[in-house]
Amino acid sequence: MPATLLDDAPRTVLSRLFTAAAQEGPALLALRDRFGGEVDASLAAVAADAAAEIYMPVAPEVGRLLYLLTRTRGARLVVEFGTSFGISTIHLAAAVRDNGGGQVITTELAAAKAAAARANLAEAGLGDLVDVRVGDAFETLGDLPGQIGLLLLDGWNQLYLPLLRMLEPRLASGALVVADDVTLFAEESRGYLEYVHDPANGYVHTPVPLDDGVDLAVRL
Ligand SMILES: C[S@@+](CC[C@H](N)C(=O)[O-])C[C@H]1O[C@@H](n2cnc3c(N)ncnc32)[C@H](O)[C@@H]1O
Repeated sequence: MPATLLDDAPRTVLSRLFTAAAQEGPALLALRDRFGGEVDASLAAVAADAAAEIYMPVAPEVGRLLYLLTRTRGARLVVEFGTSFGISTIHLAAAVRDNGGGQVITTELAAAKAAAARANLAEAGLGDLVDVRVGDAFETLGDLPGQIGLLLLDGWNQLYLPLLRMLEPRLASGALVVADDVTLFAEESRGYLEYVHDPANGYVHTPVPLDDGVDLAVRL
């Protein structure tokens, strides 16, 4: 069976986007200097504005992990916190296509980024599977059409725990929760990690030492 992720259209778009993202090193460091450790819910919009042209994507190997996990889980409803230009979303949507169809609901504070992501997804031939919601995740993800099979947390790390708590009632049994950048932003991720690592809260987790650190949890 062919894999959508290996089709010409998604591969071409991903190659272009990863190449562009690789050029942004100094801008990314400046952003981390300015907001590292300080982005709480009230500063999220300010930080998103400052990052309006910065990709901050998942690494290619993390993208492939997202494809593999979404395929393995057979997820039909995938929710993503932090669209940016749509690199991770392309991986998720390709897997949903190969699962037989469904929906990826992703959310982005920066309107221009959300528009660019929509264009990138359309060019990758995946636009029909993705609902890009512009605005604050705590508002845009309040309304979901079913139970979540896979949740990707890839916005500001300080918001992972409150957002997980908000979405928890919508997680299917056996849902996968993937949190990115948990080593790079260890302090900012601490509350989230302590929560999913406590078996009393209903998760089994494992760290995945890829790129800036991934934490993978399954909802019991
Ligand atoms: C690390 S980037 C996402 C990268 C993307 N997942 C990828 O792999 O290409 C984080 C994004 O989350 C967005 N963001 C931060 N806080 C948000 C919020 N409260 N609601 C929606 N988006 C938010 C930022 O604007 C930023 O573009």
